[in-house]
This record gives sequence, structure tokens and C-alpha cells, in this order.
Amino acid sequence: MNPLQQELRLGIASKQPELVHKVKQDFWRLIYHEMPPTGWLNDPNGVCQFSGVYHLFYQYSPIDPEGGLKYWGHKTSKDLVHFKEEEIALFPDHPADVHGVYSGSAFIKQEVIHFFYTGNVRYQGDYDYITEGREQNILHFTSKDGYSFSEKKLLIGADHYPAGFTKHIRDPKVFEKDGFYYMILGTRTNDAEGQIIVYQSTNLADWSFRGIFLKSLPKMGYMWECPDYFEIGDQAILLMSPQGIEVDGLHYQNVYQSGYFFGRTNWEKVNFQPSSPFRELDHGFDFYAPQTFEDEQGRRIMWGWMGLPDIEPTYSNPTIERGWQHAMTMPRELTIKDGKLMQRPLSEFQVLRDQLVTCKLEVGKRNRANQLSGEVYEMVIDVLDLGEGLSIHLRQDTLINYDAGQQILTLELGESGYGRNKRSVLVESLTQLHIFSDTSSLEIFINDGEYVMTTRLYPLEGQDKIEFSGEACLAIRKWNLSKKD
Ligand code: FRU
Repeated sequence: MNPLQQELRLGIASKQPELVHKVKQDFWRLIYHEMPPTGWLNDPNGVCQFSGVYHLFYQYSPIDPEGGLKYWGHKTSKDLVHFKEEEIALFPDHPADVHGVYSGSAFIKQEVIHFFYTGNVRYQGDYDYITEGREQNILHFTSKDGYSFSEKKLLIGADHYPAGFTKHIRDPKVFEKDGFYYMILGTRTNDAEGQIIVYQSTNLADWSFRGIFLKSLPKMGYMWECPDYFEIGDQAILLMSPQGIEVDGLHYQNVYQSGYFFGRTNWEKVNFQPSSPFRELDHGFDFYAPQTFEDEQGRRIMWGWMGLPDIEPTYSNPTIERGWQHAMTMPRELTIKDGKLMQRPLSEFQVLRDQLVTCKLEVGKRNRANQLSGEVYEMVIDVLDLGEGLSIHLRQDTLINYDAGQQILTLELGESGYGRNKRSVLVESLTQLHIFSDTSSLEIFINDGEYVMTTRLYPLEGQDKIEFSGEACLAIRKWNLSKKD
């Protein structure tokens, strides 16, 4: 172990127990979502399945719930529902990553996991930290078992990037196509536009610059983070998290976005031509920097960070005082239906279900239905018939409202949203709501995964209201969820 890593470990060991104590008492700790044991979590990194075991690495600041020096935390699972917290996998202990081991990905080849990540280095001085004053290097390490890791190797030093870019070049995602390996990176150009660049390799060790994978696009922001490329059937899909897009009606309401393009890839030129508009992956308050992988069953699975950077002063998370902040979304399976990317909760989560409660509700102008209640649950609402609209009041002061005339679904939070107010999405016809409520989060899958709205919320303990009003006929299935490990 190198001396810097030893010092970092000692620092964590001296401060973490106090935070563990605080965190343990927090009612807002989630029941079936992955959180940092203490401190801060952001992007999913290096997600993969290797020899049957799912690995979820993540951006982690173990002792600072407001972020800070980034490590890679590590969780493993056999079923994507029950996770074990492993030792920290990656420390900022190399000259090329000394101010943070930033985001990256995993690529499995011949029984070895190859990891590619961003090493962040920040110089001391009077810099703008955009065009000067920092390095973002690309490093590589491997694992033969998923638990022990090789030495790191610098692959692409910051001084080797092509001209025309600022110092913001990061988040390698590696994939294989027709015998070649490709690495895409998110960038900010000198003209303050986002672009995705691509490198190519035949051996995963030597990489050469191939050009621009996706060139900048009008009104698409100044920086594109966390690119991801994959194919479902013969459909090429590019995911990314752009920063700097202006609010446009119901679109782009959060500080930063994440979404996807369908498109076509020209493998001779190695570039991607979008064939669809940029579509947001989530329409709630807390979703960013998603990453996908293909599991051993061939499913394309995506985790997102159930959070966003730079949300303050608009909204906040009161768990900071309780020693931690942020979590992952549930993992979602991606498929294509009728030319749309669908996101569905994994069937594995059904093991959490307690006894089923079903009911058929006729909600009318004079009859509100309030016979259900719950805090941690899954509820499927099939809309059999709909008049002017439907309102569902949940927990303390959360409202899901569908206006059939305007075809708009709105998620509105009150005090328990800590500044989160209202998000809306256009839904032409509402057929189903599939709601996952955890102690301090809500994921709403609309029309079998056509749209999703994700939010954190912080209701008081015991706030378990579920109340329907409007004009509708609904078939409801509801299960309380609990972990029995
Ligand atoms: C996205 C991001 C990445 C970066 C990482 C640092 O949230 O900004 O671009 O690698 O977080 O934690």
C-alpha cells in the first residue's frame, strides 16, 4: 500500500465512527436504495456483472456529506436488491489523480475487468479551472476477481488531448465494436460547447485519438458529462449529462440534465448522428449521471445518481446534518418499445413485497378514496377509466396530479420537498402509474416505463397518507416493501 493511501485510510478511520453513529439514527435512511455508508455519494461508476456478481462502484466522499475528495466506493450483490458494502476500491493516491478519482467505467474481456477512470488534479493558484489550473487524466487498472485491484496506469495524460478543448475532459466509457475498442469522453470545448470525443484501441492499453464522436449541437449546453454508448437490437443509443441547457417549457427544468439520443453510428468515421431529439431520462428533481451495463442475462441495466450537483440554493437534502447525502436510483432495465426507450423496475425487486392488497376504486367528484396508507411500498395503479383527471396525495404533502385535458402529469411537493416545488411532463394518455416509495424517495414509472419521475422527499415519520381524488376508475395493487436479510 502506498504511503498516501495509508494516510487517507487513517484519516477516514479516525472520523468515520462519529458519522456512523449519526447515520444509524436517521429515519430518512432508505430501505431498498443504495446509499453511502456515511458521507456523500454521486455517480455510479464501473457498473458490471462479473462471474455472477453485480458490482456497483460509486463516487464517494466517506467523511464529508457535502462532497469533497472523491474515492470509489464499492458494493456487490447477487440479485441487484441486496448489496454488501465492500472496502473502498479506489483512493486518490497517484500523482495523476491526487485531487479525486473521478468517474469511469468497467469493461470485461477474457475473465478480467478493465477499469477506466478520470484522475483529477487541481493546481494551487489563481486559475479559472476551466481553461487552466487543472488536469483530467485517464487511468486504467484491472481486476481478476472483482475485489482486488492492480496498480493504476496512466493511459492518456491531460497534455495529450487534442487542441480546441478546455481542461474539462472526463468520464471514459469503453465498449467494443467489430474487434476494436472505443473510449468516449465528455468534454467542454474552448467555445463553451459540449462535445464527445473518441479514442480507439486494439489492446485496451494503447489508445489513439479518432475524432469527434458527437459534435456540439445548438442549445445543448457548455459541457457534456458522463457519456455512455450502447445498442439495443440494431438501435444505437447515446446517453449523456449535459450542463448549461436553458429551461424550455416543461423541458430541462433541473439545473443539469441527463438524457439520450437514438442515432446511427458510422464506424469508418467513428461518429454518431442523432436521429431523434434529445430526450430526458427522468422528469423529477433528482436524477443525474446515469451509467449502463449489459448483465449476464443480456439485459441493459441503468443506475442513476438520485441527486444532482449544484442544487442549492433552490433545494436541499436535510440528511447532511445527519451525516450523509444522496443515493442511487433503483436499477432500471432499458428496452425499446414503439420507438421509445422504456425504463422498468427490475423483477428482482418483487422479493421485497409483503402481502398484496388489491382494490378497485371509483373516484368521483364527491368521493375521495383514502382507505390505503403506506410509507415504504410499491403501488401499481392501472387507470381503467379517466374523466377530467386524477390526483394522488401521498405521505406528508406530496401531490401527483394528472390533468387529462392538458395531458400534463405534475409532481408537486410541499414542505417535505425542502425547496423542491413542481415538475411536469407531457403524457398524452395515462394508463398506469407504478410508484416506488421509500422512506425519503419516490420513483414514479408512468405508462409502463414510458416516462419516469424521481425525487427525494423528507416527510415526517408516520406520514403515510395515500388519498385519491378526481374522476377515475382505478385498479390498484399495493405491497409494503421490506428487506428480510
Ligand atoms: C458528474 C461528475 C463527473 C465527474 C464526477 C466527479 O456528476 O461531475 O463528470 O467525473 O462527477 O465526482
